Order: sequence, then structure tokens, then C-alpha cells
Amino acid sequence: MNMTHLGEVADAISKSDYFVALTGAGISKESNVPTFRGEDGLWRQYNAMELATPSAFAKNPSLVWEWYAWRQKLIGECEPNPAHKTLALWEQRGILKSLITQNVDGLHIRAGSKDVLEVHGDLWTVKCIACDHRERLQIAAVGIPSCPKCNNHLRPDVVWFGESLNPEIMKKVYAQLEQADTCMVIGTSALVQPAASFPLIVKRHSGIVIEINLEETVLTPVVDFHISGKAGEILPELDELLNKFR
Ligand code: OAD
Repeated sequence: MNMTHLGEVADAISKSDYFVALTGAGISKESNVPTFRGEDGLWRQYNAMELATPSAFAKNPSLVWEWYAWRQKLIGECEPNPAHKTLALWEQRGILKSLITQNVDGLHIRAGSKDVLEVHGDLWTVKCIACDHRERLQIAAVGIPSCPKCNNHLRPDVVWFGESLNPEIMKKVYAQLEQADTCMVIGTSALVQPAASFPLIVKRHSGIVIEINLEETVLTPVVDFHISGKAGEILPELDELLNKFR
């Protein structure tokens, strides 16, 4: 990708009326958070069916919590990178209207984004498997945390395989996508539904889709712009170009 092409993307963003972004694990890669499917991706080393399903939790809650506590600790030591920070800045300046993320790492919020639609949940929020208790942990879990109300097991409030997404969040997500005329898709393999189809909703009403990824994905053939590179480098470059339009 040369500067002319990046310039075209900045031009499209500056002309947009309703610009939204969808992020995946790749945006946090430069913060040292492991992705799921790439080289050294989590699902290459660990079996998702033994760690991220309701039946895995019912069968072996200690193992599932051991894995989630390890991730909480690992991510707790990571910092937001320039890609997260640029999106936060764009929200502040009113350029970005909505930020939808598949990530559970909380790095967008730590970078300063205020309004984040976390479609796969949040790694530090836990909920009771039996009652309506929900809370946010301040530090990584130790053992299997139990519910202060009913003493049943607490589980991570993330979406596991085979579970549906939170209907209230999804309603907001679809409302944003219906309004969007430009959508930037950053660091996702676009293999997990329904998030993988979000950009197609924008395309369906003739919106522009911009993809930033190190690799081509299943979305690449349908996007208007594919920018090949690291999100942490491309987003600040785009920001510099956008500043020239201001
Ligand atoms: P994946 O691990 O499937 O894909 C990460 C994508 O990021 C790949 O396409 C990489 O090429 C790209 N990438 C890596 N480093 C990058 C960088 N520095 N800049 C730009 N792109 C980069 O992650 P997701 O698509 O987010 O679900 O995975 C979707 C869902 O699958 C996750 O939310 C998770 C997982 O199971 C839950 O936790 C519920």
C-alpha cells in the first residue's frame, strides 16, 4: 500500500457521514495480546471446546478458570497501542461514531474510548451461573470464584462457542451498522459469525468498507480498500493524513 492509496482511504473517512469501526484480536497484537488463529494463536495451542463452551465449564470449571485467570493476568500487563489510541482520539473528535469490538481485553476502554460495543463480552466481568449476580473483578481470579449471593460458581461474562450474543448489545450494533456509510474492519480474520458479517450490512446499503489487516481475509474480495499492514502503524498514519483535511 502506498501513500496515495492511504490518502484515498483518509479522503473516504473525511467525507463519511457515519463512520464506524469493527475490531478483532489483531488490533491488540502489537500490545502483545495473543490472537486466536494466526501463527502462535491461542486456538492453535489450546482446544476451544475444552475451554470456551458451557459444557467445558460444567465438566471442569477449575481448568476453564485457570485458563481465564492466566489470560486476565497476561492482558492486565499489556498496554493499549497506537491503534487503540487513534480510535479513542477519533471518537473524541467526533470522526468515529461507533466502535464495535470482538475483543474481551478491555484495551479500547483503557485507551480512552468511552462508547464501546463489546459483542463477545469482557474478560473481567463475571456472572453467576445460577442467579443474576454480576460483578467486575479488579485483579485476576484465583481458583473458582463463587457468588456472594447464592454461593454458586461465577463464570467469565464472555460469549462461549454455542452461546448467543447479548440481545441488547446486538440491537445497538445493528442500529449502528444500518446507519453507517463507512466501516473500518481492523485485525479480524472474519471467521466467527455473526461479527464476520457486520461489514456486509454496511455494504448492503452501498457503504464503503475499509479493511486493515496483515493478511488477506475472506472479506478482502468484497471490501473497497484493503490496507495491508500493522494496525498500530496504519491508524496513526491515517490520522496524520486526516489532520491535513481538517
Ligand atoms: P483471529 O485471531 O481469528 O484473527 C486475527 C486477525 O488479525 C488475523 O486476520 C491477522 O492477520 C490479523 N492481525 C494480526 N496482527 C495484526 C496487526 N498487528 N495489525 C492488523 N491485523 C493483524 O481473531 P478474531 O477475528 O478477533 O471469540 O477472532 C474472532 C473471535 O474468535 C474472537 O473474538 C474470539 C475467538 O474465538 C471469543 O472470545 C468469543
